[in-house]
Amino acid sequence: MIKKETIEKVLDTARIEEVVGDFVDLKKRGTSLIGNCPFHNEKTPSFHVSVSKGIYKCFGCGAGGDSLKFVMEHEKYAYPEAIRYLADKYQIPIEEVERSPAQLAAQDKRESLYVLSQWAGRYFRNQLWETDLGKSIGLSYFRERGYREETIQKFELGYSPEAWTSLVDAALAEGFSREYLSEVGLAIDRDDKSLYDRFRGRVIFPIHNLTGRVIGFGGRTLKTDKNVPKYVNSPESEIYHKSNVLYGLHLAKKSISERDVCYLVEGYADVLSCHQAGVENVVSSSGTSLTTGQINLISRYTKNVVILYDGDEAGIKASLRGTDMLLEEGLNVKVLLFPDGNDPDSYIQQFGASAFKEHLSKHQEDFVFYKTNILLRDAQGDPIKRAQVIREVVNSIALIPDEIKVSVYIRQCSGLLDIEERVLLTELNKIRMDKAKAKGRKDSGPDVEPSMHQPMDDFIPAEMLAAMESEGIAPPQAVKPISSEILMERELVRVLLNYGREMVSWEGDGDIPVAPYLLASMDDVTFEDRACIKIIEEFKAQAELFEVPEAKLFYSHQDQEVSKLAIDCIATKYEISPNWNDDKRKIFVPQEKDQLKDLVNQLIYRVKKIKIEQQMHKIREELKDCSDPGDIQILVAKYQKLKEGEKLLGEFLGNTIVK
Ligand code: CTP
Ligand code: MN
Repeated sequence: MIKKETIEKVLDTARIEEVVGDFVDLKKRGTSLIGNCPFHNEKTPSFHVSVSKGIYKCFGCGAGGDSLKFVMEHEKYAYPEAIRYLADKYQIPIEEVERSPAQLAAQDKRESLYVLSQWAGRYFRNQLWETDLGKSIGLSYFRERGYREETIQKFELGYSPEAWTSLVDAALAEGFSREYLSEVGLAIDRDDKSLYDRFRGRVIFPIHNLTGRVIGFGGRTLKTDKNVPKYVNSPESEIYHKSNVLYGLHLAKKSISERDVCYLVEGYADVLSCHQAGVENVVSSSGTSLTTGQINLISRYTKNVVILYDGDEAGIKASLRGTDMLLEEGLNVKVLLFPDGNDPDSYIQQFGASAFKEHLSKHQEDFVFYKTNILLRDAQGDPIKRAQVIREVVNSIALIPDEIKVSVYIRQCSGLLDIEERVLLTELNKIRMDKAKAKGRKDSGPDVEPSMHQPMDDFIPAEMLAAMESEGIAPPQAVKPISSEILMERELVRVLLNYGREMVSWEGDGDIPVAPYLLASMDDVTFEDRACIKIIEEFKAQAELFEVPEAKLFYSHQDQEVSKLAIDCIATKYEISPNWNDDKRKIFVPQEKDQLKDLVNQLIYRVKKIKIEQQMHKIREELKDCSDPGDIQILVAKYQKLKEGEKLLGEFLGNTIVK
């Protein structure tokens, strides 16, 4: 372990402009340096470096941090690797902490397990290439399956002979301990404490960590006997944590990063065949459902995942839920199916590399739509099942952290499900509110230990803020979960911008454009979101002059937050794929515009409902601290009034909510 003093010295010495300057062409602008962000593609620079604060911040993609964070992110280094890199750059000698014997032993143990695993990998390879049985059984098996020699080498495949103690004997003769042999699972303990080989008579797929060290094995049987398990795998050990490992990632990471997409397959064989077909950005979760740890591993390299399923529908359905996690982590997820029960491996072996690549490029389907369709197919003619499908689909959509994506999905799924968009929106908001409530409860529990390296999103130096202000750029907000209030405000702004000028005939009120009608009922409502308020205020000011501002006025608003909001609100309209309304697929997207009256009234009621809920919450809080009987009476009376109002609104809204 590196000494604390060394780490401090490195951090003190490293100069942000020099560290970043090795990778980014920086130009002076005002008090900061700017350049093109290395973390996302951009043509105009939004990557700022503050020399005095020692930090960088990209206002395009939100990346930010200090020198160390930059090196970790840019070079994909872990903490100690990044320290070593910087120490090397500034020629600072690294001092290591002297460890206690217990720490040394623990370190030694991990290291010994690594060494043993590496040795075993070599042992299995030797068996495959150098022994008669290995060649005639193992190697010929791989060749028969169509794997070329270079592929077998690249994945360090091996063979474990059909004997009880072949590896155990060799390992003990090498001086490896019995304890470690069973700890990494190469050997299994008998009751009488003798050991025998776990992987007898199997071909061997070593499993590597990110840096390419062997940490475990999968062994495939060569028998066709159904009673023999097809694969035997290493158990969890101190060096092999299954939930944080993806098979093939050490060979795939570069390609994943370059191609900005990761293909996810089910098995070892699929990974091998993909590589052989020239597709290297592929990993396997090895037959188990994905974990958050594995997803985080992928998202270090790309936000785009394509899941390559074999066509078996039962299996697909089982994995739908696991896949939701990918959405939750903000990844873009597509699926690709293979016909006739093929998996990627069998497809490649049967049809060849170019057919595979063609299939790969032509048949990817968006995961949310795919899920919608597959669930719908089951629910045909059954209204209760249909309601379940709707909820399930909206549940998936509600996981997606990106608002723009959410609104595009809502719109498109409204077409697929043949149900009005606002019904889906209502359902979405309901799910989100439930979640927010559940989360509120959870958050008030014991504090979670803060992580060593806090994200820097909320950290913008004052001078940078000043520079941005003078350029009319709004400072980005720290990334916070969006409350249901703000979601509602955005929806209000969206309706104003999209339909504010539309004339509607309102019962009792005659023909009035949407904007003044909507705003007249919002008089007593206060809003929270800065950008929303700016837009709403502008609409209000114009309403007094009997005007409705045009949406495009806001696109190039000098307040970037306002212009971004305006563009987001409008942009969703154009993101529907052009073939969406085509006859062939018989998809009908109900036009929001046709139902403006309902949409607007719904919105008014929803806003009021939220505001009433807020007031009720406030009164409940006040009641907690209130001891004067007179005051209590007044508060309770107020509360009851609100409650009645809430009930009425609830009844109105309830009529259109899917239950
Ligand atoms: N698997 C496992 N144990 C089993 C079956 C499967 O651990 N009894 C894991 C393996 O990691 C395997 C993956 O699940 O690679 C997918 O299973 P399958 O599709 O059956 O394996 P393939 O890799 O396709 O193997 P093959 O083509 O040789 O049958
Ligand atoms: Mn297979």
